This record gives sequence, structure tokens and C-alpha cells, in this order.
Amino acid sequence: MINPYETRKLVSEYLFFHYAEETDFSGDIPVPREALHFPVRLVAELADHERGVKSALDLGCAVGRSTFELARFAQCVIGVDYSAAFIGVAETLRCDGRHSCEILVEGERTAEFTARIPAGIDVSRVSFETGDATALRTDIGRFDLVLAANLLCRLPDPGKFLGSLPDLVAPGGQLLLATPFSWLPEFTDPRNWIGGRPGTGSSWDALRLALEPHFDLQLKKEMPFLIREHSRKYQYGVSLGSRWIRRS
Ligand SMILES: C[S@@+](CC[C@H](N)C(=O)[O-])C[C@H]1O[C@@H](n2cnc3c(N)ncnc32)[C@H](O)[C@@H]1O
Repeated sequence: MINPYETRKLVSEYLFFHYAEETDFSGDIPVPREALHFPVRLVAELADHERGVKSALDLGCAVGRSTFELARFAQCVIGVDYSAAFIGVAETLRCDGRHSCEILVEGERTAEFTARIPAGIDVSRVSFETGDATALRTDIGRFDLVLAANLLCRLPDPGKFLGSLPDLVAPGGQLLLATPFSWLPEFTDPRNWIGGRPGTGSSWDALRLALEPHFDLQLKKEMPFLIREHSRKYQYGVSLGSRWIRRS
């Protein structure tokens, strides 16, 4: 399968998903406002801002909006994604502060959209790298905060990924997860799904079972999101967001 996250189509859809302001949506077409700004809300609403965060890791960061948002309070943030196209664009944004692309209006008509890093972000705190969240470079270290948003059900082996998290989050550190549990065989062999098959429990129960030996659940929150395909077609999803604290 061609990796869809390497295509120009998904690069522009994710740039819009991560960086569009309300004014960028066609004014006369109603959109569910509560689902806008998902990557911003992930950080604002899931993170515990009272806990000191020196280092943060955003796994499956795509075109980087949550990574930049984490830099508002973390001194050093790494964004990792498997897609070289996504990381290339995130890196352009880090260096130039903006990146333009063509978004689909209808049929073959397009319009220009310019993604911009919002004010107040110190980009010197941010770095991006391509990598596999299930086989990270061995010297990547441990983090005060790890975010993995809408990543779990895009991995070939989500169970292996969950098993690697206790080593990645420092004691007392926070793990922020968000997932719509959109299991698809093209990304994950059904034998590797956690929950979601006849006769298994729910995916949330399987997630809890995997994390509870090492983490305490602190917050659970519904997180709607909206990905624009063209001016009259959107993908509406609701991720289950959670914050987990790594036991010492
Ligand atoms: C559904 S998108 C979510 C992106 C972003 N976190 C968000 O919430 O908008 C899944 C992302 O995970 C990335 N990804 C898929 N498999 C990966 C892997 N093994 N390691 C790192 N990133 C991966 C994809 O390239 C894509 O950017």
C-alpha cells in the first residue's frame, strides 16, 4: 500500500486541519465549531499544566501543530513522524514560520491556503525528525510529557507501542493519548487490534489493561475533530482523550 501520509492530498488536508483559523472556513457553510483546533485542544485540555515539563515528545506529529503548542510550556520538544513529507512541511514551518499549499474547493478547483505558526511560540525549542514510533532511535531518552494523538490505530502493532511507553515517560511524567479506535486492516492486522473484534472487550478496556500496570489514569475526555476534504465534505471523528501519569 502507498503510504497515504506521503501524498500531496493528505499534506494539504493536514495543514488545513492543524493550522486553519475559523475565518479560513467558507463562511456560509456550517461546520461544527466544537471540533475545530483539535491539535491545539489536545495540548490545552489534556496536558496537566501544573506539572513541570522540560522535555516533550509528540509521536505521529504529522505537520506539527501540537508539537509547536507543546513548546509554549516545554523547554525542548521533539516531533516524530513516519512520513517524510509531513516532517518536511513541519520543518519548513519551523524555519520560515509559514507554508502555502493548494486545498481542494470542489472537483478540480483549488484555493491557496497558507499555514502559519501562531504568535508566542519559541521555535528554537522545537525539532522534528522522521522515525517509527514503534522503533525509536535508542538514544532518544525519557520525557516529562509524551503525546500520541490519533496514532494508535495507524500502527501495525499497537500493543508493542503501548508496551514501549513506560520506558519513554519519566517517573511522574504524563502520557497524553487520543484515539478514535478507527481500526482498519490496511494499517493494522486485525489480530493486532486491541479490542474492536467480536468476542473481545472494548478498545478502551484493552488500552486500560495495557497501561494500568505502569500508569495512573488522571483524565478522560471526548475530543471531537474535523478534517476538511473539500469545501462541502468533512471527516468528523471523536477521539477518546486520556492523561496518564507514570508511576515512580
Ligand atoms: C491520523 S494521523 C494523526 C496526526 C496527528 N497526531 C494529529 O492528531 O493530527 C497519524 C499520523 O501518524 C503517523 N504515523 C503512522 N505510523 C507511524 C509510525 N510507525 N511512527 C510514527 N508516526 C507514524 C502518520 O504519518 C500520521 O502523521
